[in-house]
Amino acid sequence: MAPVPLSIATVIGSARYGRRCEPIAQWAASRINARHDMTADMIDPSGLPLSFGEQPLPLDIWCQLEARMEKADAFLVVTPEYHQGYPAVLKHLIDIVPNVWQAKPVCFISYGTYSKGMQAVEQLRQVFSFLQAIPIDHALGLEGIERYFDRNNVFKPDSDTTQHLSTMLDRFHQALQPMISVQPGRKRIHEQ
Ligand SMILES: Cc1cc2nc3c(=O)[nH]c(=O)nc-3n(C[C@H](O)[C@H](O)[C@H](O)COP(=O)(O)O)c2cc1C
Repeated sequence: MAPVPLSIATVIGSARYGRRCEPIAQWAASRINARHDMTADMIDPSGLPLSFGEQPLPLDIWCQLEARMEKADAFLVVTPEYHQGYPAVLKHLIDIVPNVWQAKPVCFISYGTYSKGMQAVEQLRQVFSFLQAIPIDHALGLEGIERYFDRNNVFKPDSDTTQHLSTMLDRFHQALQPMISVQPGRKRIHEQ
């Protein structure tokens, strides 16, 4: 019997108007879905009624979000670098569902105008380690992000970038292997 594909939640790290993040995340999700061993879901903070008030999300929406993220076997976080950190909206998202990350591998695509976004990734590794997630070493970083886009804000990765993502997903899949139960009937790590 063919193994069940791993479920990868692709998390969009920016909610800025005109963001580059969404097309990059869509590209990554399409590459994931083109594989036989993974499928992608998309978690987008811009679609959520986030606020910094006392009740960050209506309970029903929060429950749906948490259930969706609980289903993921692992996460791919796509983040820009903002002032040598990562966007506040991404931290907000991480904070409102703090229990969904535990024991799950996390990998990153980061980018910036002047840098590859590695400062953002280093800070995220620290946060995810605290939340007992498993940030993996390999990350895809894109410097000078504007040059990867055409005038219609369509992401146009070169072949090296596409190959780099493919290698990262291979390593991601390897990192997940020890966590997949070999017991019959246990197909997904989140069902343990
Ligand atoms: C508030 C802000 C801070 C930024 N800080 C950095 C930075 O520290 N380093 C960098 O390389 N690019 C920086 N940039 C450029 C962004 O990485 C670039 O605009 C990117 O497209 C932003 O991601 P987004 O379009 O998905 O929101 C910054 C952009 C913004 C809006």
